[in-house]
Amino acid sequence: MQRYLLTAVLAATVATAVITPFSLPALPNLITSPKTSSTPFPLGAARHPSRICVVDPEATDAGPALISAAHDCNNGGTVVLLPDTTYTITSPTDLTFLQSIDILILGTVVFSDDVEYWQTRAFGYAYQDVHLFWKFGGRDVNIYGLGIGTLDGLGQTWWTAKRSNETLYRPVLFGTDGLAGGSVSGLNMKNSPFWFNVIMNSNDVLITDINIWIEVTNSSSPPANTDGWDTYRSINIVIQNSTINNYDDCVSFKPNSTDIIVQNLQCNGSHGISVGSLGQYQGEYDIVEDVYVYNISMSNASDGARIKIWPGVPPNTTGSSSGGGAGYVRNITYELFHNTNNDWAIELTQCYFASSQEACNAYPAVLLIEDILFKDFYGTTSKRHDPRVGTLVCSDPSVCKNIRTENIAVSPPSAATAEWICTNMNEGLLDINCVAA
Ligand SMILES: *[C@@H]1O[C@H](CO)[C@@H](O)[C@H](O)[C@H]1NC(C)=O
Ligand SMILES: *[C@@H]1O[C@H](CO)[C@@H](O)[C@H](O)[C@H]1NC(C)=O
Ligand SMILES: *[C@@H]1O[C@H](CO)[C@@H](O)[C@H](O)[C@H]1NC(C)=O
Ligand SMILES: *[C@@H]1O[C@H](CO)[C@@H](O)[C@H](O)[C@H]1NC(C)=O
Ligand SMILES: *[C@@H]1O[C@H](CO)[C@@H](O)[C@H](O)[C@H]1NC(C)=O
Ligand SMILES: *[C@@H]1O[C@H](CO)[C@@H](O)[C@H](O)[C@H]1NC(C)=O
Ligand SMILES: *[C@@H]1O[C@H](CO)[C@@H](O)[C@H](O)[C@H]1NC(C)=O
Ligand SMILES: *[C@@H]1O[C@H](CO)[C@@H](O)[C@H](O)[C@H]1NC(C)=O
Ligand SMILES: *[C@@H]1O[C@H](CO)[C@@H](O)[C@H](O)[C@H]1NC(C)=O
Repeated sequence: MQRYLLTAVLAATVATAVITPFSLPALPNLITSPKTSSTPFPLGAARHPSRICVVDPEATDAGPALISAAHDCNNGGTVVLLPDTTYTITSPTDLTFLQSIDILILGTVVFSDDVEYWQTRAFGYAYQDVHLFWKFGGRDVNIYGLGIGTLDGLGQTWWTAKRSNETLYRPVLFGTDGLAGGSVSGLNMKNSPFWFNVIMNSNDVLITDINIWIEVTNSSSPPANTDGWDTYRSINIVIQNSTINNYDDCVSFKPNSTDIIVQNLQCNGSHGISVGSLGQYQGEYDIVEDVYVYNISMSNASDGARIKIWPGVPPNTTGSSSGGGAGYVRNITYELFHNTNNDWAIELTQCYFASSQEACNAYPAVLLIEDILFKDFYGTTSKRHDPRVGTLVCSDPSVCKNIRTENIAVSPPSAATAEWICTNMNEGLLDINCVAA
């Protein structure tokens, strides 16, 4: 097997040695399937099979070793993290200079769990206080793990630390910032301190064959905010063929996510595939547009398909994160959605955190929702809201346009007829059994 060859040939090599000739486990032929994006991904440049830079397995801090290997192999080579090796990153690792390079992760990457150290050292972003241990950016980059490579966030330390400081920064396990073209595939990701993945300021990226899970060892300090993926200010991203076992959004589309396909995912225990929340901040303009969510198996979740929008607020409301932000959510399709034991099969709200429906109606959302289709939904919800299986709540018909359902066959666990809460909806476009809240 190639992986043993790798171990044998490379075990004794020093950092970033250039080895020839050598048979490198190739980047698999990654196909966007079954749906393909309207803008095809750009073709990457050819790689030189003999340009291989091994990340020093002995480095006490794998961060600088990884950066140095990436510099040596930039423009056409492949960086390799050896199998049966644990690489520990103990300092912020900026990999945003990448250009036509592949990174093959066969070992395990962990990040030191020195919570205090990372508070001031992690790469920080204003948006939702996102922090990163490492960040990937550049052009034409493939990060692949062949189902062997693992990223381990040592999350329990962070979830425990959170109990004594709710606002401490917990880094996202994997993040791109300014990645144009490329892929992330075949990686195992476990125990992220916070979200598992954030895709920011990126375009034309295929993400496939990722396995995400959480192991809690201290049940009195459970995980929090463990989203599978969040997309932000990104265009033409495909997330597919992956399994996600977590406790927050399976995938979440944050402001300015456009041309996104999410397909063939198996999500368990999550908060669903979510647009938003959006419209939280006055003076900001959020867009989520042209999103296709196809063939999702969702189990044990609070929600299946979810769109969460903050209502409007009285003019010049100051202080807490209260809503009133502008923008639009447009052309979103959820098709082929299998529900097992989810509390709501669909939850659309334009009254997110509103104190009451009356308060929400009085200040309708400023953020428009239009051209939304929920199609071919199957399965059974949990008994939580039985006989209700979903909820569609707008703040005013004028800001909620062309929201449709088609072939919705979701049942509650009892034998009762499924009921849907519909508020301020154009019920002529809905083929579901609407009831008042
Ligand atoms: C909690 O963590 C934040 C972020 O590191 C820090 O600014 C704040 O001082 C911490 N609070 C306490 C009480 O330690
Ligand atoms: C488990 O979590 C609790 C609550 O945060 C904490 O008091 C305790 O120290 C943790 N136990 C360990 C072994 O970390
Ligand atoms: C991705 O798809 C292939 C076959 O199409 C399958 O063998 C593999 O297990 C899938 N991976 C995940 C994580 O679902
Ligand atoms: C999103 O795009 C709109 C329109 O270009 C822009 O006004 C807004 O600032 C962008 N928001 C973010 C978070 O980039
Ligand atoms: C849906 O995804 C599952 C994997 O979760 C896969 O086995 C199945 O073939 C997919 N169906 C379609 C129609 O693509
Ligand atoms: C799904 O999540 C539940 C907890 O919510 C867990 O008990 C179960 O083992 C998970 N399933 C898989 C396949 O990991
Ligand atoms: C809606 O989005 C899909 C991608 O999800 C795209 O193919 C289609 O062209 C978009 N429709 C319009 C009218 O823009
Ligand atoms: C849902 O949760 C139950 C109970 O925790 C578990 O047995 C089941 O395997 C989960 N479903 C999936 C698909 O993981
Ligand atoms: C809101 O505040 C802005 C400037 O802070 C002011 O120009 C505007 O008149 C105020 N609007 C209302 C309705 O009070």
